[in-house]
Amino acid sequence: MNKTFRTIAFLCALGFVLGTAMAWYNEVRDSGASGFSRIEPAAGPGLAGASIGGPFTLVDQDGRTVTDKDYDGLYRLVFFGFSYCPEVCPTELRKMAQVMEALGPLADRVQPIFITTDPERDTPETLKQYVSLFHPRLVGLTGTAEQIKAAEEAYKVYAAKIPGDTPDGYTINHSAYTFFMGPDGAPLSMFAAEDGAAGIAADIRKVLEKGGA
Ligand code: NI
Repeated sequence: MNKTFRTIAFLCALGFVLGTAMAWYNEVRDSGASGFSRIEPAAGPGLAGASIGGPFTLVDQDGRTVTDKDYDGLYRLVFFGFSYCPEVCPTELRKMAQVMEALGPLADRVQPIFITTDPERDTPETLKQYVSLFHPRLVGLTGTAEQIKAAEEAYKVYAAKIPGDTPDGYTINHSAYTFFMGPDGAPLSMFAAEDGAAGIAADIRKVLEKGGA
């Protein structure tokens, strides 16, 4: 074997090993049949002590300026998205409504909140119509580009505008976590798209019942 051939053989072997390892990883991850999947049925990772959330000043669907203080005393379910979102946002907001329904009378202590990542198109008027599609108590918040950016950063939300064919035809890639915050605005846990409404409601019920009436 000359040196070049040995090098090529080595690289081929390396490529095969890496390829196999990656295929295995993808398969295991997709199957959800290993430690990559969530262990608890729906419990999002605890966020106690995490620096998520915090003060915000935004505008609600009635055009009123609101801050996080307006929701003091209420637990909050907070989701970021945009009303033009074809699938993820409607799915997650429907789920939020199902969670509220599953909580029964306990839902009175929870404020569902939708914060837009698209302040350009999501005016208070647009949001008023949009939130009414999901739950009568769902609040829709928008604001200036700076206010929204500050809120996204506070919640560590990823949102990136993807240009479309027309100036108005853009879409927004965004993270899709639902944040569960305490009555003082402190973060408690976060739920992902794969967490079901029943499991989320059970988690929230546990917290609310422990927290007393
Ligand atoms: Ni969306």
